[in-house]
Parts: sequence; structure tokens; C-alpha cells
Amino acid sequence: MDRRVAKAGKFWDRAARGDGTWYVATGYLHQNDEFFAQGARETDTFLDFCRAAPAMGQAQAVLEIGCGLGRMTHRLAQLFARVVAVDVSEEMLRRCRGNLKSFSNVDYLQVPGDGTLEGIADEEVDLVFSYLTLQHVPAPSAQLRYLENSARVLRAGGRIAVQMRSASPVASVESYAAHAVHLLQGRHTYGRCWRGSHVKPSVALQRLSSQGVDAEALVWPFRPALCPPHLWLVGTKAPTLT
Ligand SMILES: C[S@@+](CC[C@H](N)C(=O)[O-])C[C@H]1O[C@@H](n2cnc3c(N)ncnc32)[C@H](O)[C@@H]1O
Repeated sequence: MDRRVAKAGKFWDRAARGDGTWYVATGYLHQNDEFFAQGARETDTFLDFCRAAPAMGQAQAVLEIGCGLGRMTHRLAQLFARVVAVDVSEEMLRRCRGNLKSFSNVDYLQVPGDGTLEGIADEEVDLVFSYLTLQHVPAPSAQLRYLENSARVLRAGGRIAVQMRSASPVASVESYAAHAVHLLQGRHTYGRCWRGSHVKPSVALQRLSSQGVDAEALVWPFRPALCPPHLWLVGTKAPTLT
């Protein structure tokens, strides 16, 4: 495995044990009702933006890549019949499970972080959803493997809504400014496990297309100060020809 990717589990375990809520959603210092309420609002907003909300009355399954403390998983578990919540960090998963103990429709899976999704069968889910996660994956090859495997686990006609870092020179300058601010606050975000890596949208879309997913890259128009603009890869897996 890529040496940088191999460190991700430990980095995020440490983050979960320390300022977990801040590392999951910067700005939140406590895990309180508002932390989950904001996660629910964002989930609804992004499902809508990506045209990926579950159809009324249909029992659908969603895979969430990078569930963290369950900030959005909580809402996904209300909306979908089944949620498969995966994360590279054992500690994030442990806390997520604790936060969602009232839900019986969530399965938890620790993954190595290299983009493999072993334990999830081909065509097992109706939607692959991921927010604030691929942007932290330190190797482009691992990000692209996540996209390939997302296509594999999607049923024909299923949707993908996966957010990535957008690579613009302005965004890079802003990211460095943010690292400086975080460092002044005593948080270390300069390492690769936070900074992640860049994948060109055209390369990401090409990878999805080679796996039968017709997708487009949409820029989310709103963002907090010093936060790089978010790019969503949104698409549908081609229905099987009969
Ligand atoms: C910033 S948090 C976001 C969590 C959640 N998506 C949310 O918005 O509340 C990033 C999450 O992705 C997980 N993560 C980081 N790198 C990963 C990787 N390579 N594979 C899977 N999960 C990863 C971290 O452990 C962490 O839980």
C-alpha cells in the first residue's frame, strides 16, 4: 500500500480521540445536537443538489465513504432502508456506532483507505455518498480506486454523489493560509493525511465512465472562508441491457 495512505488510519484515530468534532467539521468543538442537526441539513442539501435523494416508498441502500462520527450517517439512516458506513479509522467507527445505537439499519466496515471496498458485494447499493473524505486521501491512485469500487458496488441505474477537492491555484493558496490558521490554534493539518491529494476532474470522470458511470462534475457555489470550493462528482450507473 502507498506509504502515505498507510498512515491515514492512525492520523484519523488520533483526530477522533482529540478534537474529533473539529476534525470532522471544522468549527464544531463539541458533539451536541447542533453538530448532528447541521449534518442533517447538509445531507438533505447535498442529496438534493446531486439529485440523489431516495425515491419515496423505495427501500434503498446507501454506502457512505468516510462516515466519521456519524454526523451525516444519522440522517442517511433516517432516509434510507440500509446504510453501509465505512471509514479508515477504527476510532471514528467506534464512536459513530455509539452515536447511532438507536438505528438497526446501519452496517459498519473498517477499510484500509486505499480505495478498496472489500466486504461490499457488486451491485449492493443504490447510492454511493461521500463528503469531506476523498479530499483527505493522500494518494490520487487511492481516490481513483474509490471511484472504481463505487461503480462496482452500485447497482445498474444507481447514483453516485461523491465530493472531491477542487484543484485551482487560488484554492491551493487558500489551503496554505488555512493550515497557518489551524497551526496557530494548535491543530496540525499540514500533513498529507489532511492535505490529501489532487485528482483532475477530467481524470476522475474518465475513470467513472470506464466503469459504466456517466457522471459530471458540479461545483458547489457556497463555501466558508479559506475552504477550497467543493466539487461533486454526480452521476448514474448505466442500466444493464437485457
Ligand atoms: C472530515 S471527516 C468527514 C466525516 C463525515 N463525512 C462528515 O462530513 O461528517 C473525514 C472522514 O474520512 C475518514 N477518512 C479519511 N481518509 C480516509 C480514507 N482513505 N478512506 C476512508 N475514510 C477515510 C476519516 O477517518 C474521517 O472520519
